[in-house]
Amino acid sequence: MTDDVQGLTVAVLGGTGDQGEGLASRFARAGLPVLIGSRSIDRAEKAAAELNAALGTEPAVRGLVNADAASQANLVIVAVPWEGHAATLQSLSTELAGKIVVDCVNPLGFDARGAFALPVPEGSAAEQAAALLPDSRVVAAFHHVSAVLLADPAITSFDLDVLVLGDDREATDTVQALAGLIPGMRGLYAGRLRNARQVEALTANLISINRRYKAHAGLRITDV
Ligand SMILES: NC(=O)c1ccc[n+]([C@@H]2O[C@H](COP(=O)([O-])OP(=O)(O)OC[C@H]3O[C@@H](n4cnc5c(N)ncnc54)[C@H](OP(=O)(O)O)[C@@H]3O)[C@@H](O)[C@H]2O)c1
Repeated sequence: MTDDVQGLTVAVLGGTGDQGEGLASRFARAGLPVLIGSRSIDRAEKAAAELNAALGTEPAVRGLVNADAASQANLVIVAVPWEGHAATLQSLSTELAGKIVVDCVNPLGFDARGAFALPVPEGSAAEQAAALLPDSRVVAAFHHVSAVLLADPAITSFDLDVLVLGDDREATDTVQALAGLIPGMRGLYAGRLRNARQVEALTANLISINRRYKAHAGLRITDV
């Protein structure tokens, strides 16, 4: 396992949103330099200032526009809505070249009957990212991590496995170790990117569970 994650600077595209800000706060808490990316420098700086105030330590989080955040990081998490996924990545292919790009995007639709998986021509959001970013090392992870739990400062430990998928062993090892920086989380290798489709789609089932049981459900894999 590559556990050399302490030297990483992590950027989060869409880092002003619930999921991105939640992951950013947890990685900053773990001691990593974190860059909040946004389409707006004002929103990025505001989110970074709020996180630094909440963390109460010396500024560990900076706010930048997505392109600057991507170019200044070693590892970049994609946390934009599915609607903006392709266009965002297409516009940042140069900045993201050579980097580990961690995609947590779930292509889901919502109607009166709840959440459902949307068809994706490439197979999955992660495979779409890999197609748009041929020079990046795309990894799929963090699909089933609840933004509500990430944002709750009372939660100091999670009860959750993070399924990590990708075609680059060193990159998936790094992302497994990254997940392991958050107390209680365990990063588990779960296959190649061609198997990301059902991991993304499974989020629709978790949302159904959450609605029925008023929960923030996650996954634990047994016997590993
Ligand atoms: N929420 C969860 O619990 C959760 C859990 C697992 C995975 N995810 C995945 O994480 C991603 C983000 O979820 P979220 O709930 O944080 O979403 P969100 O709050 O709706 O959006 C995140 C951020 O993306 C930016 N954004 C919005 N529309 C965009 C567009 N068309 N193009 C580029 N950027 C855009 C916005 O930032 P700026 O306006 O500042 O640019 C926004 O703050 C989704 O793909 C979701 O499937 C979410």
